[in-house]
Amino acid sequence: MRTVSANGLPLPVLGQGGWHIGDDPRRESEETEALRLGVSLGAALIDTAEMYGDGRSEILIGKALKGSKREDYLLVSKVYPHNAGRGNIFNSCEASLKRLRVDYLDLYLLHWRGAIPLEETAACMEELVKAGKVRRWGVSNFDVADMEELWRVPNGKNCAVDQVLYHLGSRGIEFDLLPWLQERNVAVMAYCPLAQAGSLRRMNQNLSKDKTLAIIAQKYGISVMQLLLAFVLRQPDVIAIPKSGSPIHVRENVKTLDVDISSEDWAEIDRIFWPPTSKMHLDMD
Ligand SMILES: NC(=O)c1ccc[n+]([C@@H]2O[C@H](COP(=O)([O-])OP(=O)(O)OC[C@H]3O[C@@H](n4cnc5c(N)ncnc54)[C@H](OP(=O)(O)O)[C@@H]3O)[C@@H](O)[C@H]2O)c1
Repeated sequence: MRTVSANGLPLPVLGQGGWHIGDDPRRESEETEALRLGVSLGAALIDTAEMYGDGRSEILIGKALKGSKREDYLLVSKVYPHNAGRGNIFNSCEASLKRLRVDYLDLYLLHWRGAIPLEETAACMEELVKAGKVRRWGVSNFDVADMEELWRVPNGKNCAVDQVLYHLGSRGIEFDLLPWLQERNVAVMAYCPLAQAGSLRRMNQNLSKDKTLAIIAQKYGISVMQLLLAFVLRQPDVIAIPKSGSPIHVRENVKTLDVDISSEDWAEIDRIFWPPTSKMHLDMD
């Protein structure tokens, strides 16, 4: 699978989201199968957070992958902003490692900006890297102004990833954040790449019900969800982390990597879901 460099660490362009994984015990075996299948098909980067289900997502992921060789998959977890300082971050990281049943994280992200100074968070992240607990660190939900501030603090430039909301109905990052990150070789990780199965709307555009998308998807023998994923994967240096607790959906998501949409069809899609022409507020979920 194509990879994107996160400060020298190669990450597959397609990973798997972990939000709501582990919420419903009745779905445990299906979710376990979906995660393992995704890893075996190359979507071997799993995203989670201490926040997700109060640790239930990390617990299920740890259980699902306990028989796998650690070097065969990559784990991303995130620390709450209020835990991202000297007082709590080391315990938070240890607790995530314990729930995930591993002794290091591939990436550890600040989930969103809080009150703790960036300088303190960056210093703690660097200590975690030195201690071998974390291979790379990054941020999430940071817009250009936040990134510029981070760039000014000691070791801020070691930030390897910015994880942000990005899907066809929310293209604001294309105007300024995406080029800013690309110029500085910071990997972009797109969350909600399927607009949460089309349920996230912008300007009343319901992606899952859009006729143009349905017609174009049908032409390529794919679903609208796969077309949404293909849109995100079209961007170089962008990693998509769709969440799926269904093996069928995981297979479809991986197959999307083989889909080649023509430039005419992308232009038709751009006509309806137009790219930004001015600065837009960074969407968050
Ligand atoms: N950093 C942040 O602040 C932040 C915020 C939100 C999310 N995230 C991360 O990003 C990940 C992805 O975002 P998300 O989970 O909110 O939304 P998403 O990935 O855009 O959408 C997930 C939904 O799409 C469905 N789905 C997946 N593949 C499908 C397919 N091929 N066909 C039809 N439906 C499909 C899933 O259902 P099934 O499970 O039934 O397949 C689920 O309902 C999260 O899980 C989380 O790891 C990060």
